[in-house]
Amino acid sequence: MNQRNEGQRALWRGKDILSVKQFDRQDLEFVMGVARQMREVVERVGTWELLRGRVLANLFYEPSTRTSSSFMAAMQRLGGTVIPISSVQYSSVSKGESLPDTIRTLEAYSDVIVLRHPEVGAAALAAKYASNPIINAGDGVGEHPTQALLDLTTISEELGQVDGLKIALVGDLKYGRTVHSLARLLSLYNVELHYVSPTSLKMPQSVVEEVAKTGTPQHEHEDLEAVLEQVNVLYVTRVQKERFDDMALYERIQGSYVITPQTMARARQDMILMHPLPRVGEISMEVDADPRAAYFRQMRYGLFVRMALLSLVLGRQ
Ligand code: CP
Repeated sequence: MNQRNEGQRALWRGKDILSVKQFDRQDLEFVMGVARQMREVVERVGTWELLRGRVLANLFYEPSTRTSSSFMAAMQRLGGTVIPISSVQYSSVSKGESLPDTIRTLEAYSDVIVLRHPEVGAAALAAKYASNPIINAGDGVGEHPTQALLDLTTISEELGQVDGLKIALVGDLKYGRTVHSLARLLSLYNVELHYVSPTSLKMPQSVVEEVAKTGTPQHEHEDLEAVLEQVNVLYVTRVQKERFDDMALYERIQGSYVITPQTMARARQDMILMHPLPRVGEISMEVDADPRAAYFRQMRYGLFVRMALLSLVLGRQ
């Protein structure tokens, strides 16, 4: 292990993962390198007892399939154990227990806490009350930093590089926390970003302004056709029904962009199609057999990235 890597590992030990704003390119390259090692371990032998004796508290106040189960799988593949709290209605949260008290409780039993919560800033609040690492698994319409790390890893592994790419983020850019985190991360690279959405679901101005500070070119479109034939990455998202007060508006715009084999026929042959999942009609199932459809591989990269993050914040590499 070289000295630079040793220094990086020391920086990660005990660290909260709350926002992509805390990362620079060196951090990203380092995590992707560790994730690559984790992939080799899983593909060669399946498990590694690196985190034996360590406990993860997996606390989810909102539904999840991928983030929740991939963190659990990551901990178990590294020999650790998990306290899974995915149904907070059956925990003392239903008796009115506050987030700080729930965090203090779980901290007494675990070494690291993964938290998904409907309120922006919940993970940062939890981190104030915890001395063990808190990992943000999605805070309302705020951020989803570990998703962005796995998205970046997918782009890098599938296309061999991130610099020089044209990337379109499509769908619900207003409420989709994955695109808020991903746009910020991508702005650390030499990319061109295209935001494709209905007017009512545009990328928040706060994110656009942050990205603009890096000098990254950003373009807004309503029509996917404007960029379909050019982009290297088409990152499609679900319209976030649960964030809408006006269901009539949701019904009007939820089918705005649907990727079909006909759409893919007009896209580049060397592009990839991504989606954080779950999908609810934005990509037709007929597209799944297209080799450019990367969304199930993307999900799998999540396991390796989360194994990397757990091992790093727990200081066991
Ligand atoms: N991508 C993602 O966050 O999926 P889940 O909601 O299933 O965790």
